[in-house]
Amino acid sequence: MSKDPNLIRGRFTEATDAFVEAFTASVTFDQRLYRHDIRGSIAHCRMLGHVGVVEASEVERIVAGLQQIHKEIDDGDFDWSVGFEDVHMNIEHRLIEAIGEVGKKLHTGRSRNDQVATDMRLYLREEIDVLLYVETDLLKVLLDLAEQHTGTIMPGFTHLQAAQPVTFGHHVLAWFEMLSRDRDRLGDCRKRVNVLPLGSAALAGTTFPIDREFVAAELGFDAISTNSLDAVSDRDFAIEFCSCAAMTMMHLSRWCEELVLWTSQRFDFVTLPDRFCTGSSIMPQKKNPDVPELIRGKSGRVFGQLVALLTLMKSQPLAYNKDNQEDKEPLFDAVDTLRDCLTAMVGLVPNIEPNVDTMRAATLDGYITATDLADYLVRNSVPFRDAHRIVGQVVGYAIEHDKPLDALTLEELQAFGGDAIHENVFRSLSIEGSVAARHHLGGTAPAAVIQAIAAARRRL
Ligand code: ARG
Repeated sequence: MSKDPNLIRGRFTEATDAFVEAFTASVTFDQRLYRHDIRGSIAHCRMLGHVGVVEASEVERIVAGLQQIHKEIDDGDFDWSVGFEDVHMNIEHRLIEAIGEVGKKLHTGRSRNDQVATDMRLYLREEIDVLLYVETDLLKVLLDLAEQHTGTIMPGFTHLQAAQPVTFGHHVLAWFEMLSRDRDRLGDCRKRVNVLPLGSAALAGTTFPIDREFVAAELGFDAISTNSLDAVSDRDFAIEFCSCAAMTMMHLSRWCEELVLWTSQRFDFVTLPDRFCTGSSIMPQKKNPDVPELIRGKSGRVFGQLVALLTLMKSQPLAYNKDNQEDKEPLFDAVDTLRDCLTAMVGLVPNIEPNVDTMRAATLDGYITATDLADYLVRNSVPFRDAHRIVGQVVGYAIEHDKPLDALTLEELQAFGGDAIHENVFRSLSIEGSVAARHHLGGTAPAAVIQAIAAARRRL
């Protein structure tokens, strides 16, 4: 039998060009798949034994060899070589080197095409499980923070202009809702990741009597791919993951933007502990919110990885193309970035310290209970559009006289609203009254927020 040092160049008459070898290799980055690759190979090999394609004693030797290689890699005792292109052939070559001829039987009835698709799915499934765990942690600390501040009042904004008073707990619950949907999306994505491609071989399936249910059970896949061409070529599962990751990063960037604004001297709504902040190399007074800023910035990178994978897949004819080797770095980076950002938030959120008095004081600017006055008029039989106009005039008057709404006298208010306004109007104009009145499902009242937290805890 002729010797092929690369395992796959039997038909060639010359060695690979050195640059081409390095250019086409993926082992520098796909070696991180080794655990999944070996796990997949062991399952495949056991299946070959199960259906009688490989003898039981051979299966034993191959599995033991793969386990030994696993250990060598774990221990940093493995010689990765660009000459063997990728993680799959590095391991296969080492297997043959370690256990001899019988190692050459491992690749029966499979291809690197279904092998790599399997590895990627095993890898991503594991990472999704970690991410779901971290997201659940983050949801919990958000609920804890909200719970401490069901009665803490701050201005709510639209257009970044003071709009209506809200509770800080309610604001934090808005973050909770975003992430809660993100977690649901990720869980849903996992279903489409957890499908077994192995058995598709290069593109058309295999002539051997394989047992795909056996492999799926060994590897914990919930389903088996039903078209070999599709299974080896599509990377929509990775794109879907990156889309979930991008959405989550978009949400995190919104929270972080708020934290950056709120820690600024202009707002001064929250304080972050020193250990989450960094200084300036020139300005000794600076305490910068680098962690939220970085998370905000890293969102761009995850959006970029999503676009990279979409573009990678766009217009690819069936079935496998080498383009797909380019799926790895974007996916790995999206996974790592998302995990780090979520982990940072799990540490940060419990340490967000609202400056309760400053938040409360900020509700006094901006005529923030004007809508409450309009609603009051409506309750006294003024149609809403008329009430809106009347209150607009009241606000204009108050600005002109440099007074907050609740400092106007009953007579001043009645000059605009006539006999639709009574002494009890001042209850509607108070900040606490405004907040407490919104006690329906989804509202900002402390009572509603307490109920929302209880419901959210049940959901977790
Ligand atoms: N390193 C390759 C990848 O990541 C493995 C599959 C190679 N298949 C092939 N037919 N060249 O996609």
